[in-house]
Amino acid sequence: MNVDQNAPVGIFDSGFGGLTVARAVVDQLPGEDIIYLGDTARAPYGPRPIAEVRHYALTCLDALVGMGVKALVIACNTASAAVLADARERYDVPVIEVVLPAARRATRVSRTGRVGVLCTQATATSKAYDDAMAAAVGVEVTTAVCPRFVDFVEAGITGGPELSAAAEEYLAPIKASGADTVILGCTHYPLLSGVISYHLGDEVTLVSSADECANATYAMLASHGLLRAGAHGNRRFLTTGSPEKFAMIGARLLGEFVTSVEACGKMSLEQVKVEM
Ligand code: DGL
Repeated sequence: MNVDQNAPVGIFDSGFGGLTVARAVVDQLPGEDIIYLGDTARAPYGPRPIAEVRHYALTCLDALVGMGVKALVIACNTASAAVLADARERYDVPVIEVVLPAARRATRVSRTGRVGVLCTQATATSKAYDDAMAAAVGVEVTTAVCPRFVDFVEAGITGGPELSAAAEEYLAPIKASGADTVILGCTHYPLLSGVISYHLGDEVTLVSSADECANATYAMLASHGLLRAGAHGNRRFLTTGSPEKFAMIGARLLGEFVTSVEACGKMSLEQVKVEM
């Protein structure tokens, strides 16, 4: 594998959630250039069938590879669940995803072995988290699908009575299970950790798939000799939707982190040849 150490890191999500990963990556690796691609025109992925998510995710990942990235970060649990089995074989660059690092952390930090997973419908259907924790002795997994959480985040809403009512409803089975550790199994959810933690209680440890993925990104680049030193990397944000809207909601959610948003047309993505 001949990968340029100075090339950017490609980070992909269906929309805004992966920005939580991108920010964690930039915090840990400020010298890296990043290209972030949010497939906002086709978000949310969560309610879609896995095969469709897989097709969309591969077109986006192929596009990032076509831009010459040195590593791919799949900053989306739903997409990770859909392409986990073969993304590593498909690309010559290292691929980091969100599910395994978060599952590993949760099984380590849980004292009782009762782990909750909050995720999209597609991630729950894929059973990616159950599979990732299946080998851990004495771990019991309870999954709660939180369909409207992504819509709230995509609309820039991270608090208020409507969100609180949804959280109360979605988190009820997790509370009933007595989980002491809960995985935020969708990269949109760290933006809702205030409301989630409020409803679960602060004795419950939240594991952010975003933070764990950023740690895994560091480890992957370091082990491949691909870390780039330098003070301040360049950041590009691409969206398949409206760049203006992306910049506005991105700024609402993450302040000045989101700069220079460019259009990456859905059409041009569809022209990328995808061999399934
Ligand atoms: N952020 C994504 C995830 O981690 C997906 C949200 C969606 O598009 O439904 O699963």
